[in-house]
Formats: sequence, C-alpha cells, structure tokens
Amino acid sequence: MESIIVCGGARLTGEVSVSGAKNSALKLMAASLMAPGVSRLRNVPHIADVEVMSQVLQALGAHVSRDGDVLEIDASELTSHEAPYEFVAQMRASTAVLGPLITRLGEAVVAMPGGCNIGSRKIDMHLRGLEALGAEVHFGHGSIDVTVPAEGLSPAQVTLDFPSVGATENLLMASVLVTGETVIENAAREPEIVDLINYLGAMGADIRGGGTSTVTVTGVSELHPADHTVIGDRVEAGTYLVAGAITGGPVTVRGFDPIHLEIVVTKLEAAGSEVEVGDDWVTVRRDGPVRAIDIQTLPYPGFPTDMQAQFMAMLALANGNSIITENVFENRFMFADELMRMGADVRIEGHHALVKGVPSLSGAPVRSTDLRGGAALVLAALAAEGETRVGDIFHIDRGYDRFCDKLAALGADVRRES
Ligand code: EPZ
Repeated sequence: MESIIVCGGARLTGEVSVSGAKNSALKLMAASLMAPGVSRLRNVPHIADVEVMSQVLQALGAHVSRDGDVLEIDASELTSHEAPYEFVAQMRASTAVLGPLITRLGEAVVAMPGGCNIGSRKIDMHLRGLEALGAEVHFGHGSIDVTVPAEGLSPAQVTLDFPSVGATENLLMASVLVTGETVIENAAREPEIVDLINYLGAMGADIRGGGTSTVTVTGVSELHPADHTVIGDRVEAGTYLVAGAITGGPVTVRGFDPIHLEIVVTKLEAAGSEVEVGDDWVTVRRDGPVRAIDIQTLPYPGFPTDMQAQFMAMLALANGNSIITENVFENRFMFADELMRMGADVRIEGHHALVKGVPSLSGAPVRSTDLRGGAALVLAALAAEGETRVGDIFHIDRGYDRFCDKLAALGADVRRES
C-alpha cells in the first residue's frame, strides 16, 4: 500500500494546470456506447476511475485506446448489456452505463451500487425516471435488470425529487432516441451535465435547457461518433486553490472555467484570501489570518459538496468557529476524525460540523477515508507542523491526476512512498 508523506510549513507558490474533469469524462465515456463507430475524447485525466470505466466499456464489447490525454472509444459492436459487479462495487459511476445500454441495446443489467464512504448512494430516482419512460425494472441477485418493452420507450415529463447529477445524466441518455419530447424538471445544473449535453449534441442529439432546471430532450433517429474536449476539473482546481489559501500562496490554477467555482471563490475571499480571476485561471494568496465562515453544501450553483472537506481543513486553522452543513450526502464528515488526529477541533452534530479554529495543526499518521477527504488531509498536512503520513491513498488516485507532482511543483515537500 502506498502513502503520501508531507513535511508541512512550506508556502506554496507558482502555477498549476488542472486536468479534465473526472465527473464529466466518466459520463462522456459511457455516452460513447450509444454511437456505433470511433468516438474521441480529449483532455481525459490520468486517474484510476478512467481506467475502471475503460474496463467497464471493454467488458461490454467496446474497444478503448489511449494516447496521452486522448481516449479513442470504438463502440461499433457491443457484445453484452451487463455491467459486472466487480466494477460497479469499485466505482459507483459505472451506473452511468444504464442509460446508454438501454438506448443502444434495449436492456441493461447493472449491479446494485453498494454504499460508499460518503453515504448510501441509492439510484431510486434513476429507476423511477426510467420507469416513467416505460422501461421495466426488475431486481435480483444484487443486480438491477432494466428492459425496454417491445413498443419501445415513450416520452415523459419527469420531475426529480432532488437535482441528482447521476439521475439527470441517465435520463438524458435514455431519452435521446425516444420519439417525442421528454422533459426533466428539477434537473441537475452542474457544469459536467452541460458538458455531457454538449457532447450528446455533437453526437446528433437534440437537447435544450442544459444548465437550467428544466431540460427538454427531443428524440432523434440515431447518434453518431463525435470528437469532444472534456472541460477542466473545477474540483481539482478548487483543491489547489485551497492549497494556496492554506499555505499563503500566491498560487495560480489554470485550465478550467472560473465561473464553475464562483461561490468557492467568494468563500475563499470571505475566509481571508485575496483572489484574482482570469478567463481560464484564478490566483489566490493569503497574508492575514484565516477567517471563520459558515458553509452550506448545495447542488450547483450552490457550494459544492466535493469542496467541503478541503474547506474544513482550512477552517480548522481559522481565528474563530465555523459551521459546515452538508446537505447533499448523509455521511460526508468521515475524514474529520482523521483531521482531529492532527489537532483539529471539530464536533459533528448530524449534518453540521462545528469547526473551532486552532492555532496550528501537527503532523500525524492518518488515513484517507474517501477521495476528497484524502485530498483534504494532504492539504491540512501542508500547513501542519512536522511530518504527516497519509495512508490508503488509492482513494486520492481515483480522482487526482499526478497530485503529488503538481503539489511538489508548487514547492510542497511531498512524496509518495510504498
Ligand atoms: C456525482 O455523484 C459526483 N460523482 C459526486 O462527486 C458529487 O459529489 C455529486 O454528483 C453531487 O455533485 C460523479 O459524477 C461520478 P447525486 P452522484 O446523484 O451522481 C442521493 C467526487 O468526489 N440520491 O447528485 O452520485 C445520493 O445518495 C464525487 O467526485 C438518491 O437518494 O450524486 C446523494 O445523497 C463524490 N437517489 C444525493 O442524492 C438517487 O437516485 C446526490 O446524489 C440518486 C441520488
């Protein structure tokens, strides 16, 4: 098992470029199953989850090849409609093949996504929406079998109880060839949804309202392969911005759309940093103390739940008390116990975390509990006194491309060790 070793105290300075967005790339890969032929995705991050999704696509009969940041997916012939359990158990995002398989093959069998370290991760909204389109859903042996009736799917108006990113994506991909107009109300508005809609449009789909709560899909007769560049990863960008804020900076993060981090930038400024925003870059520096602020995670454009852990690491050093409320996932404070091993003073009350600022954190052996919690522990270690050893970093490798290299290039004393 590998660990990340950090010697804290260095002020990070310089410039870092982010990779393509994990939470878009994985869905674009799944969407490529719907186009017979060779699709090309550019700016694809080098992360473990992309490897797993490549294996899922190949298990379904597609061929995936990679040349640097470019992924070629040949979905001319699909040989299976089953996403194997070992992949879904490993990566919940495998459920994104549900919609594409229903559209391409009229049937999909996907293992029930187990829970994970941040919550139960149900897919009831995905399934209710698919049933509204006329799909038949059966459960058995830990798998979900979704089939299209002989007469095909019918257009529907689906209102989501919650603007679920995954449910919005699966319903979009299940309805692109359904004759008529399907409307998704209370749709998710994340930038990764817009990126998927742009890719589907390039493949020949007719979708309006991307980025708003009401998305309308008008069925077309077929989709064709396309060539698309993945948007920059706003969460990776936010993570390096917090690295700059927690150590002082100035750090410039490049390669993403700053509009996608508008509320994060506002919160960085409220917490005591100076921020400069360019067209595809943001610079952060902090000379004064970290100020205590309150944060509520919400669906986009609210404060992103994927930035909650990183901000808790910074607010652990604030000059007062902060309240962080996690409204999206039911169990996303797991890493706080590890942060407390470094001297943070955090009290969890249900969906609320009361973070009492302390003058300093001390390096300690800790373990990643999940992807963003693991990254947050590294950020805390950058500001902590002494050495921190972060274990179980496979969580971090799922979503961060060359994390240690990029931090070291900013001046951090950080290395991987087996
Ligand atoms: C996506 O997860 C992202 N993952 C998550 O990023 C992100 O935190 C989340 O969206 C919210 O922005 C990928 O894109 C691969 P949801 P997803 O459906 O689609 C509940 C990261 O760190 N829910 O919007 O699973 C669900 O349990 C990851 O990169 C249902 O109850 O998010 C959760 O509590 C973590 N029933 C909430 O809704 C459903 O049918 C939001 O889930 C679907 C969701």
